[in-house]
Amino acid sequence: MIVITGATGKVGSKITEHLLARGRTIRAVGRSAQRLANLVAGGAEGMVGDLADTAFLGRAFSGADAVFVLLPPNMGAADFRAFQDRIGESITEAIRRSGVRYVVNLSSQGGDLESGTGPIAGLHAQEERLNGLPGVHVLHLRPTYFMENLLMNIDLIRKMGIMGSAVKGDVPLAMIATRDIASYAAERLDRLDFTGKTVRDLLGPRDITMNEAATVIGKAIGRPGLTYAAFPPDDALKGMVAAGLSPDLSRLYVEMSEAINRGVLTSGAKRTRETSTATTIEEYAREFAGIFTEAEAAGKSAA
Ligand SMILES: NC(=O)c1ccc[n+]([C@@H]2O[C@H](COP(=O)([O-])OP(=O)(O)OC[C@H]3O[C@@H](n4cnc5c(N)ncnc54)[C@H](OP(=O)(O)O)[C@@H]3O)[C@@H](O)[C@H]2O)c1
Repeated sequence: MIVITGATGKVGSKITEHLLARGRTIRAVGRSAQRLANLVAGGAEGMVGDLADTAFLGRAFSGADAVFVLLPPNMGAADFRAFQDRIGESITEAIRRSGVRYVVNLSSQGGDLESGTGPIAGLHAQEERLNGLPGVHVLHLRPTYFMENLLMNIDLIRKMGIMGSAVKGDVPLAMIATRDIASYAAERLDRLDFTGKTVRDLLGPRDITMNEAATVIGKAIGRPGLTYAAFPPDDALKGMVAAGLSPDLSRLYVEMSEAINRGVLTSGAKRTRETSTATTIEEYAREFAGIFTEAEAAGKSAA
C-alpha cells in the first residue's frame, strides 16, 4: 500500500491516478472527504485529516510500503516558515512511528540551499529532517518552477492585458509541468528502486523566459502580442497581499523571485536525458487556454 499526502493537489492527485491505473493500493490523504471523492471513486482509500496532526498521520502511514510527502502551501500563514516546520516535524515523526521504509519527498530546485530562497528554505530544512531518519530510504524530488504557476496571471491578463511578477522577463527558467513530476514520482513509488538518501533534479524540456512564456500563452488564448512586465519587489509584494496572501508569505515569494533573478536557484541542476521531462510550454499553453476560457466565461456570467 502506498500513501499519498496532498492527494487532492496538483502533483499528488496525478500520482494517485497513475498508481491506481497500475493497480496499486492507494491511501489518499487530504482534509476534505468531498475533495477526495473522485480519487475514492477511482479506487483509493480516502483518509481525512491534517498533516499537523501527528497521531492521525501515524495511523495514515501505518502498514504502508511507501509514502509521498510534501509541505503544502498555506496562503494565510502569519509565519510561513513556522508553519512549514510544524508540518515537516509532524510528517517526520509520523514516518518514524509508523516504520515506513520508503519516502518520496517533493522538494524543489534550490532545496540544497539553506537560506535566501523564500519558502524553498523550508523545503531544505525538511530534506535535512528526513535525511536524519535512520534506515529510511528517501528520494527528494527537486523540480523547477511549475508551469501551473502561470495560472496566477489569469486575473492580470483579464483586467490589465499583461502577465507579470517579480521575476525578470529575460531570466531563463527550466519550467516543468506538474504532470511530468507526477509521472516520475509514480514510477519511482511503483518500483521502490532507491536506497539511502538521494536527490533527483527534474527540469522541463528546455529553458524559457517569462517574456517567451507570455508570447506562447498569448498565442494560445487568442491574444497575440501579450507581454510580460517585471514588477518592482515592493509592487509585487503589495499585489500579493491585496490578493489575500499573508504579508510574511508575500515577502518570502519576493525573496524567492529575487533568488531566481540572481540565477541562484537555477545554478545547481544540470539538464541531462534523465533530468529533462517531456511537456513543452506550447503543450501546457493549451491546458492554460482551457482554464482561461472557463475563467472568462465565469467572469462574464457573474457580471
Ligand atoms: N509552484 C512551484 O513552482 C513549485 C516548484 C517546486 C516545488 N514546489 C513545492 O510543491 C509543493 C506543492 O505541491 P502542489 O502544487 O502539488 O500542492 P497543491 O496543489 O497546492 O496541493 C496541496 C495539497 O496539500 C493538501 N493540504 C494542504 N494543507 C494541508 C494540511 N494542513 N493537512 C493535510 N493536507 C493539506 C491539499 O489538500 P486539501 O486542501 O484537500 O486538504 C492539497 O492536496 C510545495 O511544497 C511547493 O513548495 C512548488
